[in-house]
Amino acid sequence: MSSQIVVSTKMIANLLVPLTLLVAVVASASNFYQDFDITWGDGRAQIHNNGQLLTLSLDKASGSGFKSKNQYLFGKIDMQLKLVPGNSAGTVTAYYLSSQGNTHDEIDFEFLGNLSGDPYILHTNVFTQGKGNREQQFYLWFDPTKDFHTYSILWNPQTIVFSVDGTPIRQFKNLESYGISFPKDQPMWIYSSLWNADDWATRGGLVKTDWSQAPFTASYQNFNAQACIWSSASSSSSCSNASSNNSWLTESLDNTGQERIKTVQKNYMIYNYCTDAKRFPQGLPQECSLT
Ligand SMILES: *[C@@H]1O[C@H](CO)[C@@H](O)[C@H](O)[C@H]1NC(C)=O
Repeated sequence: MSSQIVVSTKMIANLLVPLTLLVAVVASASNFYQDFDITWGDGRAQIHNNGQLLTLSLDKASGSGFKSKNQYLFGKIDMQLKLVPGNSAGTVTAYYLSSQGNTHDEIDFEFLGNLSGDPYILHTNVFTQGKGNREQQFYLWFDPTKDFHTYSILWNPQTIVFSVDGTPIRQFKNLESYGISFPKDQPMWIYSSLWNADDWATRGGLVKTDWSQAPFTASYQNFNAQACIWSSASSSSSCSNASSNNSWLTESLDNTGQERIKTVQKNYMIYNYCTDAKRFPQGLPQECSLT
């Protein structure tokens, strides 16, 4: 009798351990209700599955968008996106970090749609003190409309690294010692929107949005931010994150990472402001010769 009781207690214990783990994982899973506000689009942006999934949609009357509840000053921020499928020409899905005002800082991913079967362009940019003009554009090595893929921004005081499914594609280093400004004083919100940009997005504006395909929909899941959250009340930021030691705050690209960027840029980059001498008759931006 007593040995039976021991066995069943053990069985309960065995069941409880994995259950507790499961609860912990679920509790830390992303929840769009908790982290974001829908900011525009009159019902075209929607949160589904208890906060696990967010969709933006665009039709002839309007696009839609959302914004983080928190402001962040540095972070390692992942989001999974599945882009507008089929004929998405003319549509742009923007996913970016930005502060506010004339001298704002901004870190951009923008996805320019295309006709069915033709490649999306991933457009990236970095603004510091209100000044951008640092575009780099890429084709992706997969169809971004078939599945969710992870788009990440590592932003710490030394560097900004853009990654796709864990592969770094672009770096903007802190070169303040050369007089180049770097975003490190203005907290940023996370934004995303889906809108019509058929005056420029697809083949430079030649291909227009086909409204018979509307509504166009992009989806988001698994937001994850290891980040410092800014408090306007105390003008300070708090990086405490129970599950991490904040090693991302000092992370930088090692040699392997630099090599991976070079390989991606060699195979997939289609525009680089740093090689566009025509656009900068007075000389390329200074960071171009330093990186
Ligand atoms: C769309 O497809 C054309 C043809 O392959 C390509 O030149 C262009 O870069 C693609 N992307 C966009 C956004 O125009």
